[in-house]
Amino acid sequence: MSRPPLACCINPSILSADFVNLQAELARISNADAVHVDVMDNRFVPNLTIGLPVVERIQQVSPVPLDAHLMIAEVDRWAPLYADAGLDSVTFHVEASDAPIKLARELRARGAKAGMALRPATAVEPYLDMLEELDMLLIMTVEPGFGGQAFLDVTLPKIRRARAAIEGSGVNVAIQVDGGITEETITRAAEAGANVFVAGSAVYGKASPAEAIESLRAKGQLAFG
Ligand code: DX5
Ligand code: ZN
Repeated sequence: MSRPPLACCINPSILSADFVNLQAELARISNADAVHVDVMDNRFVPNLTIGLPVVERIQQVSPVPLDAHLMIAEVDRWAPLYADAGLDSVTFHVEASDAPIKLARELRARGAKAGMALRPATAVEPYLDMLEELDMLLIMTVEPGFGGQAFLDVTLPKIRRARAAIEGSGVNVAIQVDGGITEETITRAAEAGANVFVAGSAVYGKASPAEAIESLRAKGQLAFG
């Protein structure tokens, strides 16, 4: 059975954007597949970014769909409110959730795609039976909390095992990778089986974020063969 061609999605992270000029920063990435919005609460991760009111406003003005990455404690309580804001996808960390299956169902019931994230040292195996509850599995390729860190190659076998499990069970689940994605590392991540790539510094750190997106997309597509 030949596998259907994977769509290569580039989701720039606004963590590396200018927070004072978010609307203009969003306009610079209008060729992205979605915008990745990192929500941090200084509890689940040792950093603080933005919360629901700002995300709601971004949702109103963004030219592309929103992909929220919630790095927050008590996520079972908070994540549904992000789905209610009309976001395209809402991703919670399994390490922060008391009831991930219930939460994934709740997100879908409220109209959002359900994403579940794993920290680099969290194994995927305990969650393989719940893949059908998810639209996206986010495999962190750095420790969450900060942009600009180096890609952890140690996560590549987990990406391969997740891709094999998804293909083996025939579910339609995207594999997102986040952290240290560059024009160099995207190839390794894509070959391992990822198809949605978050890039902060590799997009907003460039003079032309739109060109950086096109270049990353071409590299990812090439790796799919
Ligand atoms: C890190 C965030 C990432 C971050 C990636 O915890 O989840 O989305 O913005 O930044 P880069 O691409 O610079 O590693
Ligand atoms: Zn992120």
